[in-house]
Amino acid sequence: MSRKVERIHELFLAIEKSHPETGFNTPLFDQLIKALHAYKEHKDVELFKIYSISQHLKKEMSLRDFLYWIVPVERYLNKNLKDEDFIIYNKDVKSIEKKQNTIPLTIVLDNIRSSFNVGSVFRTSEAFNVEKIILAGYSPDPSNPKTQKTTLGSHDYVAWENHAKCLDLINDLKVQGYWVIAAETTNHAISLELPFKFDKKTAFVFGNERFGMDPQVIEACHETRKVPLSGIKNSLNVANAASIFIYEFAKQYHGKP
Ligand SMILES: C[S@@+](CC[C@H](N)C(=O)[O-])C[C@H]1O[C@@H](n2cnc3c(N)ncnc32)[C@H](O)[C@@H]1O
Repeated sequence: MSRKVERIHELFLAIEKSHPETGFNTPLFDQLIKALHAYKEHKDVELFKIYSISQHLKKEMSLRDFLYWIVPVERYLNKNLKDEDFIIYNKDVKSIEKKQNTIPLTIVLDNIRSSFNVGSVFRTSEAFNVEKIILAGYSPDPSNPKTQKTTLGSHDYVAWENHAKCLDLINDLKVQGYWVIAAETTNHAISLELPFKFDKKTAFVFGNERFGMDPQVIEACHETRKVPLSGIKNSLNVANAASIFIYEFAKQYHGKP
């Protein structure tokens, strides 16, 4: 039974993909209506609701209105959508030349487990023109197709590299003249909002989703900063923490005298 509903979902997605170039006046649209009609007389209320979607679909409707009706199908199938499942139609207006104006910031992700978190950091870094991302330890990188999917192409516009051992990397960065900041919620961490030094390049280091940063790595950094939290939970998702850090750095950098 759910195979047929899966087919309805596939048809919705295929139509979404081909729109707006061809509009809804296509054989796919007719196939979708026919597939929905299979549940016209169905006794199961949930499946009858699937049929009733057909009553709302019109060839002249907007894509936004059309996609409103994919939601009951996804809920029926218990689909959990991730960001990369959404087709983004807005054309990217920025070109690669823009990357000549990077901000003097490098992001180090140490032993990040989730491709989604790495992808999310790539997207934020690209949006704020971060200079480089370094994937340390076992953090997945965009050579991994799963990670590539989650960056939505942003890895083409942000320089990135790997490094096997974060501790050695921190020491190398310090020798290269970087000011290295651990992002962690330790007791001695200072607030993120304090002024940054812009006489040097900066690197932020973020730690594992479950275990946080390795204490030795924190120790090796010049300082530790945190996003002050006032809730019950004592930490943020690593990609969210990175977004806030990058935003604060970019804000101060662009506002600098
Ligand atoms: C989910 S947290 C790790 C939580 C871990 N259970 C702990 O208590 O250390 C993953 C990473 O996100 C970053 N992070 C999360 N919340 C933060 C905050 N409020 N300030 C700075 N960094 C934060 C840190 O780099 C941390 O290592």
